[in-house]
Amino acid sequence: MEEPKKRMLSGIQPSGDLHLGNYLGAIKNWADRVNEYECYYFMADLHTITVRQEPADLRKRSLNQLAQYIACGLDPEKNTLFLQSHVPAHSQLSWVLSCYTMLGELSRMTQYKDKAAKHQDNLNAGLFTYPILMAADILLYQADYVPVGEDQKQHVEITRDIAQRFNNIYGEVFKVPEPLIAKTGARIYGLSTPGDKMSKSIPEGCVFIMDDADTIARKFKRAVTDSDTVNCVRYDKENKPGVANLMNIYSTITGKTFEEIEKEFDGKGYGVFKPAVAEVVNDHLAPIRDEANRLIKDKEYLNQIYREGAERASYVAGKTLRKVYKKVGFYQLDK
Ligand code: TRP
Repeated sequence: MEEPKKRMLSGIQPSGDLHLGNYLGAIKNWADRVNEYECYYFMADLHTITVRQEPADLRKRSLNQLAQYIACGLDPEKNTLFLQSHVPAHSQLSWVLSCYTMLGELSRMTQYKDKAAKHQDNLNAGLFTYPILMAADILLYQADYVPVGEDQKQHVEITRDIAQRFNNIYGEVFKVPEPLIAKTGARIYGLSTPGDKMSKSIPEGCVFIMDDADTIARKFKRAVTDSDTVNCVRYDKENKPGVANLMNIYSTITGKTFEEIEKEFDGKGYGVFKPAVAEVVNDHLAPIRDEANRLIKDKEYLNQIYREGAERASYVAGKTLRKVYKKVGFYQLDK
């Protein structure tokens, strides 16, 4: 008999539109994962309110982002896609786990320390207990792997510690998950600040997957190339990080090597190269954008995905939660 697939789970905050860095760096490769893993993805709206949100915006993004992910190739038939707040077990397990998490270990979390420094005006308890909710997200599904960025690795490690602590007391209740730090996927930098990762906080250098052709053309036209005036397309990450970034984008989309790109633009300069990059990016994003726009208009379809996703997720999560309730000694009513 075939081995059952390993389970993979990841949360994504519905905190903004997706951009080319998210897409080329990660999402583009997700569609293929279903061949190897049983995949769960959810929009982590419970986590998002640790920072104050405009309710109408959060509501809208929770739906738009689902449309964008599906348009990027995440097939809702093959992946379980859901909204965290639709599955109450996340909050329920989070409370139980908070009684098995030490204040000391939470206070060592680097993300908490960074956020505490940034959000002095709203230093709420949720920022502090954030990793407990994340542990609940993961452990409810008995996930084998959790694909995360480097910044979230510490949160997967505390999840492992909490799981092991609980298992040591009550037996094998939780699968102890492994973080999966993506090594594939391109690292894309901001067009206006090629020293920093592309980020929505620097919008002029950030190409959103929903940007129209003109906006994309304008952003690439203004892309920083290099400080010297050697107007030539050559891969030199050290001295020409802006050009290297554009070449990387071009290469990731077209599959051409850096040498091939150098040859293609030999003697042509940035005036030709930049619009060429804008064009391949737009050609690649246009069908994704169109599909996302079509889905956004079909609210009933998206609702249905969320409904079915929550149902599948609740089934799996409910099993774990019931086991936990029983183990810790909550009195059970006869069925
Ligand atoms: N904290 C993650 C982030 O900000 C999002 C997240 C919430 C998550 N719960 C998760 C990621 C569970 C992986 C698994 O990126």
